[in-house]
Amino acid sequence: MMALGQTIDISKFLLAISSMNGLSDPAINNHNYRVAFISYLIGKEISFSNEFLYNLLVAGLLHDIGLLLVHIREDVALLKNPSAKETRKVHLHAEVGYELLRKFPYFSKIAKIVKYHHYSYQEAIENKDIPFSAAIVNLADRIDIFIINNADTEQPYSNISRVLPKLEKFLKRQEGKIFSPKLVDIFLQKVSHQEAFWYEILNENCLKESLERLLKSFDNKLPSEAFYDLSQMLAYLIDFKSPFTATHSSGVAQTAASLASFFKFTSPDLKKIKIAGLLHDIGKVAIPLSILEKQGKLTEEEFNIMKSHVFYSYKIISRLNVDNDIIEWASYHHETLDGEGYPFRLTAKELSLGSRIMAVADIFTALREDRPYKKGLPPERAISIIDELSKKKKLDKRVVNVLRKNLSNISMQVEESQKRAKELYHELRGIVSMYKE
Ligand SMILES: [Fe+2]
Ligand SMILES: [Fe+2]
Ligand SMILES: [Fe+2]
Repeated sequence: MMALGQTIDISKFLLAISSMNGLSDPAINNHNYRVAFISYLIGKEISFSNEFLYNLLVAGLLHDIGLLLVHIREDVALLKNPSAKETRKVHLHAEVGYELLRKFPYFSKIAKIVKYHHYSYQEAIENKDIPFSAAIVNLADRIDIFIINNADTEQPYSNISRVLPKLEKFLKRQEGKIFSPKLVDIFLQKVSHQEAFWYEILNENCLKESLERLLKSFDNKLPSEAFYDLSQMLAYLIDFKSPFTATHSSGVAQTAASLASFFKFTSPDLKKIKIAGLLHDIGKVAIPLSILEKQGKLTEEEFNIMKSHVFYSYKIISRLNVDNDIIEWASYHHETLDGEGYPFRLTAKELSLGSRIMAVADIFTALREDRPYKKGLPPERAISIIDELSKKKKLDKRVVNVLRKNLSNISMQVEESQKRAKELYHELRGIVSMYKE
């Protein structure tokens, strides 16, 4: 359990951020985990420096998060098989990841490793800005893509003896140009010859367990304020998928916190509800972009899928080692007082004030936003719709009343807190359009 004012262990958090790539695209499920693990195994043959190894591990875990913010499908295909003409494009997700990571003090050291993780050995020799660790992550990344392309998905261990010599040939052919010969040697002589290595990386549970143990072995405790920043980063990764939602979670977080302050929440509880607001839609990572971005009404089938996002939010947040309040306030935002909400069909007596506040904050923020098929509503219109919902016993009347009475005040606070998200969103889109030219 996290208690504010103390330090937090961010291992679970890092693994959750890392797992988002696989949730959003099953074709690269566990890719980040494997890259982190392989990078670490190579790194530990080179240096015992804790800082070097920890950064390598974290960079491996987060190296592809930029993919979440560019157009996913085409880029994943590109990464698996880059043609010469498109090699420049391969850096797009790395640049986007870099720009995002460097905004957070805990990740400033690994941001550069991420930025350069698709540069070749030759390029790294010429460019002094490229950290050595980037070459390790690059090698690990190519090794894993080779494994994904060649592994037997039915019986993962069955063809190790055939894949290994092929992998060896692949690496040898490119060493000196794409890969550092020294790193290739280390991998082939110290890592890949052990059966245990293959059993480990091809088994999801073993791999996760090892990564968690490794992360915990470093002293990576951060002040609990870091938790807020990490939640903000997760919110960006979700919201920036679409221009329509770019400031959604930031808006929900601030609306909820502003409302909660009128209900005399204590200062630690105000922080918690802000974090819950930032994380409430994290489960959207598991929803296809075609549904999130659909112009017009969802079909019944699509809506069934869409509804599951809040269940995934519950699952992902539950893994983060956070206070129960945060899990509940974030994951009950589609529950209603009459028991007709989803996904748990909770009733009024099970919905705490924090959860009720979050439900109002979410609907209010969404109504105010543009969607592909509709313009955002002015605050007064949004309030009158919310009023109707409270009359139908969907939303809490007291919360809605507080929102109505303090509308202009709250709107000002929300706008202010969405500014940073908006600026960063435009900055990242700017990079994307540069590459698409
Ligand atoms: Fe990559
Ligand atoms: Fe990768
Ligand atoms: Fe939402």
